[in-house]
Parts: sequence; C-alpha cells; structure tokens
Amino acid sequence: MTNQQAQARIAELTTELNAHNHKYYVLSEPSISDFEFDKKLEELMALEAQFPELLSSESPSQRVGGTVTKDFPTVKHQYPMMSLGNSYSKEEMQEFMARITKALEREVEYVCELKFDGVAIGIRYADGKMTQAITRGDGVQGDEITANIRTIRSLPLQAKGNEFPKEFEVRGEVYFPRDKFDQLNRDREEIGEPLYANPRNTASGTLKSQDSAVVASRGLDCFLYAAMADERIADTHYDGLLKLKEWGFKVSEHMRLCKSAEEVFAFLEKWDTERHNLGFEIDGVVIKVNSLDDQDELGFTAKSPRWAIAYKFASEQAITRLNEVTYQVGRTGAITPVANLEPVLLAGTTVKRASLHNADQIAKLDLHSGDMVQVEKGGEIIPKIVGVDVAQRAANAVPVQYIQTCPECATELVRSEDEAKHFCPNELGCPPQIKGRMEHFISRKAMNIDGLGAETIDQLYEAGLITNVADLYELTYDQVIALDRMADVSTQKLINGIEASKAIAFPRVLFGIGIRFVGETVAKKLAKHFKNIDALMAASEEELIAVDEIGGRIAESVLKFFADERNQRIIQRLKEHGLQLEVAESNELTSNVLEGKSFVVSGVFSQFSRDEIKAAVEQHGGKNISSISKKTDYVLAGDKMGPSKLQKAEELGIPIISEEDFLLMIGG
Ligand code: IVH
Repeated sequence: MTNQQAQARIAELTTELNAHNHKYYVLSEPSISDFEFDKKLEELMALEAQFPELLSSESPSQRVGGTVTKDFPTVKHQYPMMSLGNSYSKEEMQEFMARITKALEREVEYVCELKFDGVAIGIRYADGKMTQAITRGDGVQGDEITANIRTIRSLPLQAKGNEFPKEFEVRGEVYFPRDKFDQLNRDREEIGEPLYANPRNTASGTLKSQDSAVVASRGLDCFLYAAMADERIADTHYDGLLKLKEWGFKVSEHMRLCKSAEEVFAFLEKWDTERHNLGFEIDGVVIKVNSLDDQDELGFTAKSPRWAIAYKFASEQAITRLNEVTYQVGRTGAITPVANLEPVLLAGTTVKRASLHNADQIAKLDLHSGDMVQVEKGGEIIPKIVGVDVAQRAANAVPVQYIQTCPECATELVRSEDEAKHFCPNELGCPPQIKGRMEHFISRKAMNIDGLGAETIDQLYEAGLITNVADLYELTYDQVIALDRMADVSTQKLINGIEASKAIAFPRVLFGIGIRFVGETVAKKLAKHFKNIDALMAASEEELIAVDEIGGRIAESVLKFFADERNQRIIQRLKEHGLQLEVAESNELTSNVLEGKSFVVSGVFSQFSRDEIKAAVEQHGGKNISSISKKTDYVLAGDKMGPSKLQKAEELGIPIISEEDFLLMIGG
C-alpha cells in the first residue's frame, strides 16, 4: 500500500469509526456489532503503525489513553467558570421566577435541565478539534486534564460538520454512569480492594489519574450544557443546546423548554421521584432563562448568574449515635466543636464527623452525650446535625458541656458579645494558631513560597526552628536538611523559595502577616493609602477609619495587632531581612502584563538590583521561581549568570531575556 492509499483508507476508517462512536456513545443507537467495530479499529491502528506520519491526534485510535501526566498544569479559564445559586424549596423557586418577571417586566421562557452530579469541565475547540480541557478549579483557573478528557468516548475529538465558530468552548459535567461504577466496585470486591464510596468522588479521582489509560478503562461520560464563543452561537439557550447536539456533543434528552411556572414545577416534581431511575446521579435540576438577550440584561452577581438557579433535592438524612464532641482550634484561635459519630452510611459516603459550628448550636440542639442524632448532607461537604431523637435518650444522659479552656494550650477561652464563636486568646503561644499563621503567610495568595507547605511548617515548628514568620528568614540549609524526608533538592528549593519571597509586593506581605479581618482587599487598600508599614503602624483609629471601606472593626484589629510588642519585633525583623514593607515607587505603574508568566531572575543587573527586578516581576502580575524547569516562561539573565542555568534554559528551549527586553515587556 502506498502512502497515498493509506491516507485515503485512514480517512475513510476515521469517518466511519467516528460515526459509530457517535451512534453508540452519544445517541445510544449502535448500528454495528462491537466485533465489527473492533475489526475496523484494528485495521486503522495497523495502518497508523505502518505509516506513523499519518497518525493524527484526533484519530479514534487515540481514545485508549496511555499518556502519563506527572502533574496537571494550572491554566486560566478564558471565560470564568461561575457556579449556580441554590434553592431548596418551591417557594424559593417561585421567588426566583418572580424576581426575573419583575426585572424584565414580562413573563419569560425557561429551560429546565437536570443537575448532573459529577465534575464540571470546560473543553476548548479550535477549528473543531479538541485542544484543551480544564477543570473548574476556583472558577478563574483550573487543572488542565486534556489527555484524560480525550478518553471519554462520547466527546468528539473533532466536532461534526463545519457550522461552528473557529474557536469555541463547551461546558459540561463529567460523570460516572451508575452501571460502570457498580461494575468497578464488583471488580474491586473480587480482588479484595476497598470499594469506592460514590460515583461523583470516584469520577473526580479518576480525572486526576496520571495515567490516561486508567481513565479510558473506567468508562466516564460527559453531558454538555453550554457552549460559548466570542460571537453568539444562538439567540436562545435552547437553540444553543441544539447546536451542540448538531456538532456531535452529548446533550441530555431530558432538557425541557418551559413556557410557564407550572411547567417548571411539573419538571421539578417529575425528577424529584424519577431521578432514581436514571443511569446516573443528579442532585437537583437547573432552571435557566432561555433568551440570551434576557440573560444579558439580568447579568451576574459576584459568583453566579442572575438568570439561572439550581433547585436542590432535599438532602438525605440518617440517624446515628453521638459518641463525643471534640474541639478544633483554627488559625485565628476560633474554636469549632466537632461531633464524633458512630459511622453511618449517608448518600453514598460513610459519615464519622459532623460540624457543630458553635456553643449556641449545641445548646439549641440540647445535645446530650450518647444522643441519637439526625445527620444531613446538604450542599456542604461536611454533614451537619439537624435534630436529636429525645425519645431515645438515656435517663442518666448528661448535657454536652462546652469547654472553658483551649484544648491545645489550656488557656481560658473568651467570647465577645458580637461573636458566635469562642476564641483562644493565646495568639502567640497556642500551637495551632502559631502554625496556622505561618501557613497563611506562605500560602499562594500571600507569600506563595515555593517548596514550603503545611507539613514542613509543622516539622520546622516541632523541631523548634520556627515560631513566627520572621524565623523563616533565618533558617539555614543545615537546619532544614536535618529534618526527616528532606533531601538536598527540596532543601535548596525551600531556601530559594524563602529568598525569592523577599520580592513579594507590600500588599501581599501585609495580607500574609495575618492581622484579623485584614483580607486581600483590605490589605491592598491599607497599603495603597499608607504607602509603608511605619505609616500604617503609626496610624490612629480616626486615620484608619478615614480609609475607604475600613470600618471600626478592622481599625480596632489593626491597632491591637501593632500595639503588641511581639508583633512589632516581628515586623522589625522582616524589615531587616529585606521584605517589601513599602509600596515600591514604580508601583504607580503596576499592571497585569506578566500575568501567568513565571520568571527565573539570575545574575547581576546594571540599572536595578536583583530584588528590584524581582519586585517588578511581581508588580506586573508575574511570578518569581527559583529554578529553571519546563514551567519557566522566561529566564531574565543579567551579567555573571551561572553557566549551568544558561545551559538548562537552552536545553529546555526557554527564552533568555535581558534587562532591556524585560523593561520593554513591562512598558518601562
Ligand atoms: S449551568 C454559570 N447546568 O452544577 C453556571 N450546571 O454550580 C453555569 N451542573 O459544578 C452552570 N448540571 O457543573 C449548569 N445542567 C447544568 C448542570 C450544571 C450540573 C453543575 C456545574 C457546576 C454546578 C453549578
């Protein structure tokens, strides 16, 4: 066979196999036997093996997986991935529709869909080819799991026809079909492996598998419920779904266009009972305004669209025994009581603990030790106790007594009038508070220190090496490498990460030091207003309150923090270690031009010090990393950069830029 003949035959087989895949996995109407399908697939694979240059990534042979991904890169969503507001009753649904009628001053049509209980995914297509699949993550960025998503057979690697935008994204839910899940557990039972608890968590775990062949073997599936592109795809949501279907995507047949509130309610009621007869799990239904013009007019709140809402089915409940109440101490010293329960199966998972929120909650439930309690799994991950069966209470049962002293450091707890929670006031002496503050300091949105995590903080603390954030900057290589599980590379990475954090801009340092009520936004406001830490520390209550959006509660907390000499000493030491405790002059020029880009800064520069350059990277939205890897976007090289770094950058094909190139990049 010539190359040309092979090309023609491969094209023919690809078209046929794609069509059969679509019939089988999307339409559930197979037209050939599995045997015939396999024969064709084998023929295709044999040709691709013989003519490797003809193998395309959209080939149906590429569904079996085999790609191994070590870690999944974090990628920014082109369109943010929002979530839905929830409602739990017909009254709330009625209110939702009333709000819409009021805002638009007329009745509108709704599309009702099932709310699939799986893992949200955004999949990008260019020229109809699947290019990238990203998990929801925090809505702004997620993990890229393209290789794993490509194994889902109902998802086209190449969209059907040619009536689609050059670039578009589909949104949907990856789920574990019930029969596939049950089969998986039967197989596991046979080989004596522990069983998986529920389809959703297993789908989520499967998608994070490093080996796409494992994903392929599991039989995940995916329903799509939205398509987006820079241009409009249709004028209504419903027509958009029909377009998705035309392009070969799997859209649930159970969506309905509803012209009245009655039709919406009929849909809710039907699925409240019918849901148990589906081949997959749903946790509610979703109601969306049909017209896209209307959707645009209604807009979004910070988190979710005003034109859609989820109606969640009543949560499942179970009765079990309360064994004991224990107490957790958080970073801020807040005490959270936890109910330790006799393990009970609830909505597919074994529940052993439930949160009790605060002392009032315990009093309200009138909890007694050994009580039979009603646990419920609602929208939250952690189940809660919603009631007590008093009839089953033993005559001699004693009420649960809220603790008076901290379970970690024995300090007497306090509770101010306007707080629901008790607090341990021993901020600087209570271990979980000390560790929690350091964990907060190194976290992604604060100092973002590479190579350092909660576990290492724990080890360093236990070894007596750190008790506050300033201590981090005095750690030596020898101290760190002496810890368990620390090798040369990880130690160096940690030390470099700490060093690199000295370039982090002032607002993030201020957020990182963990003043109560000073979150990211407040830290930015305070930094912008006071320009440096000395001015902030010297500010009076009036001066603090004069800042936009800073109220009495925050002002009081800031004053209290800086009044403590121990905190003053920590700040002094951070200053001595060269952290950014003032807004850099050039801060006036901050931008996001380097967003998502990571830099390794190395060598000696002519116009700026290395720390100034690193600060500039941060100010323009970039990230400093200490060592060169595949993830590095640029190496910013000054004089006397080490030859091994240079060589590594060249090997990995990472652009090496000069000080001048960099200044051009940031528009300086
Ligand atoms: S629409 C702007 N439709 O529910 C939000 N979401 O919080 C658009 N989900 O994890 C979401 N079925 O993946 C929509 N038919 C459906 C859905 C659905 C399940 C999930 C979604 C996300 C959560 C929404």
